[in-house]
Amino acid sequence: MSTGTLALIIFVVIALQVGVFALVALYRRKQELKEIGSQEGASQADVEKSPVSPALLTESETTTAWSGFREFIVQHRVMEDKAESICSFYLTPADGQPLPSFKPGQFLTFKLQIKDPVSGESKNIVRCYSLSDSPQLDYYRVSIKRVPAPAGHPGFQPGRSSNYFHDHVQEGMRLSVKAPSGHFYLMEKEPLPVVLVGGGIGITPMVSIANALLNSGSSREIWLFYGVRNSADHAMKEHLQSLQQAHKNFHLHLCYSRPIEQDIEGNDYQHRGHVDINRLRLILPLKRHQFYVCGPRAMMESLVPALEEWGVANEDIYYESFGPATLPKHKKAKPQASKPVEAITVTFSKSGKSVTWNPDAESLLALAEDNDIDVDSGCRAGSCGSCQTKLESGGVEYNQEPDADVEAGHCLLCISKPKNNLTLTA
Ligand code: FES
Repeated sequence: MSTGTLALIIFVVIALQVGVFALVALYRRKQELKEIGSQEGASQADVEKSPVSPALLTESETTTAWSGFREFIVQHRVMEDKAESICSFYLTPADGQPLPSFKPGQFLTFKLQIKDPVSGESKNIVRCYSLSDSPQLDYYRVSIKRVPAPAGHPGFQPGRSSNYFHDHVQEGMRLSVKAPSGHFYLMEKEPLPVVLVGGGIGITPMVSIANALLNSGSSREIWLFYGVRNSADHAMKEHLQSLQQAHKNFHLHLCYSRPIEQDIEGNDYQHRGHVDINRLRLILPLKRHQFYVCGPRAMMESLVPALEEWGVANEDIYYESFGPATLPKHKKAKPQASKPVEAITVTFSKSGKSVTWNPDAESLLALAEDNDIDVDSGCRAGSCGSCQTKLESGGVEYNQEPDADVEAGHCLLCISKPKNNLTLTA
């Protein structure tokens, strides 16, 4: 073998070795890059999932709601006002499974076994209460006001379930709860400035909406007008103050209708009197807002039409009266073809009463209540199913699509009107 051939062979062997080393190094580098890539991907996913408020997750990203009733445990009770008339209940699911999110402004439906003070018999009572915090991963919160019994109406107990919560629902107790529902909730489609008007215990869905917006870092302007009698009934005072201090876009206006001696205007509250249209017109900047109103019926009946008269578009007004009772938004009355109106008779067979349908009545539930007929109700919005009543004859039409499942041959009184003479098992 010549020296030249030997040198060539040595050169080829060395070149091959270098090539193999280079390939191995390249392969290792690729593997490392792949690993780094997958780690980066994982941490990005974690960042996207963990700190986002459930309020902002899309429906498909949240846990699905359950059907029927689910057991919850009362974790905490917290009094929210000086008079100790409003109590918050923090609820966690007894099965330890994840909680579905909800739309701020919605409510929970509870089934309670309560003894009738007159008959002494235990009865299932279904009632709905607004969620009062923003959606959280591990608990729901409702805040409930004790209702004083009206004098002279022993059979009529509007505060039966609210007072039961105050007097009997203790930490550790189990409650049957339906999934969050309701049509009154924050609209996130258009990021308009938001005006929240809460009268009395109507503050609870407003706090849920405000918390959800602020926790999500929303820059929407939020105006909260809270109407309450005085500092004794003022709920969640420290929390609302802390929101005001922490967020420039949150404007709190407290209106005391009957301030007590210790209440100092400008310090404890800003305005003496109720929340009314003049107050809103004086304070709000002239621009388009979304209005959310929840409070006693008298407040709703004066404020909602006044907003419309002020020129607020119908689609920018959302409201709910106590209960919670979602009311359909005002619609301009359509001109009716003039045809003679035939009187409709509604018979309540158990009560043995027959009454003439009042075309101005909101619903068969309202008609029953106006005539002292004992019927169950909860949400008054077609969601909880507690007013479901058997239809013995005749037919009804619904003001809106029921959310609750309705058994064949039954109807939901709270959202229905009679089509013709009908008989109900009530
Ligand atoms: S009261 Fe809830 S469905 Fe009628």
